[in-house]
Amino acid sequence: MRVLLPFLALYRRHAWQIALGMLLSIVTLLASIGLLTLSGWFLAGSALAGAAGLYSFNYLLPAAGVRGAAITRTAGRWAERVVSHDATFRVLQHLRIYTFEKILPLSPGVIARFRQAELLNRLVADVDTLDHLYLRVLSPLLSAFTIILVVTLGLCWLDVSLALTVGGMMLATLLVIPPLFYQAGKPLGRDLTHLRAAYRLQLGTWLQGHAELTVYGATERYRQQLDETEQRWQRRQYQQANLAAGAQGLLTLITGLTVTLVLWLAASGIGGDSRPGALIALFVFTSLAAFEALGPVAGAFQHLGQVIASAGRIADIIYRQPTITFPAAGPSTPHEVALEILDVSFTYPGQTQPTINRLSLSLGAGEHVAILGHTGSGKSSLLQLLNRAWDVDQGCIQLNGRPLADWDEPALRSMISVVPQRVHIFSATLRDNLRLGAPNAGDEQLSTLLEALGLEKLLENEGLDAWLGEGGRPLSGGEQRRIGIARALLHNGPLVLLDEPTEGLDAATEMQIMVLLRRLNVHKTMIIVTHRLQGLESMDRIYIMEQGMISEQGTHQSLMAERGHYYHYHRPLRL
Ligand SMILES: Nc1ncnc2c1ncn2[C@@H]1O[C@H](COP(=O)(O)OP(=O)(O)OP(=O)(O)O)[C@@H](O)[C@H]1O
Ligand SMILES: [Mg+2]
Repeated sequence: MRVLLPFLALYRRHAWQIALGMLLSIVTLLASIGLLTLSGWFLAGSALAGAAGLYSFNYLLPAAGVRGAAITRTAGRWAERVVSHDATFRVLQHLRIYTFEKILPLSPGVIARFRQAELLNRLVADVDTLDHLYLRVLSPLLSAFTIILVVTLGLCWLDVSLALTVGGMMLATLLVIPPLFYQAGKPLGRDLTHLRAAYRLQLGTWLQGHAELTVYGATERYRQQLDETEQRWQRRQYQQANLAAGAQGLLTLITGLTVTLVLWLAASGIGGDSRPGALIALFVFTSLAAFEALGPVAGAFQHLGQVIASAGRIADIIYRQPTITFPAAGPSTPHEVALEILDVSFTYPGQTQPTINRLSLSLGAGEHVAILGHTGSGKSSLLQLLNRAWDVDQGCIQLNGRPLADWDEPALRSMISVVPQRVHIFSATLRDNLRLGAPNAGDEQLSTLLEALGLEKLLENEGLDAWLGEGGRPLSGGEQRRIGIARALLHNGPLVLLDEPTEGLDAATEMQIMVLLRRLNVHKTMIIVTHRLQGLESMDRIYIMEQGMISEQGTHQSLMAERGHYYHYHRPLRL
């Protein structure tokens, strides 16, 4: 339960609105009780007066009271819903933004540990579940306690012992039923939260990987797993519905017993009057209506397990400390960058072997180098370290003689232009996808760059307004890569990191892109990670990476003369 405390504290932000909502809820419940009590007493009183032949019975005042209570109940219920739902949604809005803000500083490395659907599920479904906390648990509970107090005090005016009997029965019900159903609903709530998350995750995987699943004939198998999770989820929902029905049934039974008891006790006299007449109806109807106030409480507590499970899942994100932190201020963004990697080692969490192993490498400002190496030798990981997706375990990376950790995040991001190994195309227009690199770039600049990259075909029809990404125009692998390159060129940082920028391009386009990259980045420091051998002759240096270490380095000519790995990469071409 302690996990709920920080979420409860959020309600302080809208304390007045919450208090008003609570007041309206109490007024509505009292109007409801008043309505039933007054009409019960009124009907009984009229009948008795008629039977006794009394024609001076004042029916105007109670009739006005009944109408007043009915109007108050309707208006009160409406106002209470508006006020308390508005406050709850404001709290949820704040919580969702707060959770999102906590996700943002987590490094890509930490975020990658959560699957996308899992993060989305916590941000949307789990935050939504927390609306139960106030609307279904706190508000009904506090209102019920107030009603017990008011009804008992009100009835005490007529008969103390009868009032205490009704109040005592209600209090006992409130103290026994919620904890009982909380305990019964706790494992169900936990399972429901986890099954909902699992179902969404599996459904997301099934939809995203549909093409692969179809090709490998695995659609049915995955579908079956999805169905099994859905059935388990439905079984739990069914059990929860049964529990809710059980809670209501038990409450109805207790109400019936209490009303019978009150009828029996009231019949033998109220407040010393042994023939209380219509007052018997008043007591009976008050008990009946007052127990209605307990209705929502009985069902609410079985949701508490679900609320606690969701709160735990959100807390897991918001209390996660970012592993990578940036100083608030650092050196100003330079126009040129010299890079020094000194004896750096790095092991991914949970791995035993280092991915980068005592690697040193240095680049003067304006130098262009290429890194080659077998797949899995750690090339992309090295670029990730330069971006601070992870921090090094040992050694140091320096930009212009200052350790990487000295640079504040805006300076670091504006200094580095990156083409990652997997370029992400957003579901947005071509213009917005490109402007990620430079938010202020004009249409003409974008069009010229696209033409230089051989992407003029994308400018046909809707041009820069064309919708790309999911649900938009599907792009070829080579087109996606070149959009990634365009972003990096637009970003215009003095350090350019390119992870296999020409992968998937034909030889002629590759040559065109390499020439363009060299020309546009002539004064910039550039690292190209590649498996391709075109255009390496013009690099200032070439590094060969093996198992996280640099095994060879030099210019194209010197490495060819050495006849090491680099020479052997070229050999098949020469045969
Ligand atoms: N997030 C991660 N967690 C754990 N291990 C990882 C992670 N990312 C990469 N690795 C592992 O680190 C090693 C180096 O991966 P990396 O992506 O740096 O290789 P690479 O040289 O870029 O390969 P390629 O040429 O295929 O792109 C691989 O064995 C890979 O499985
Ligand atoms: Mg790679």
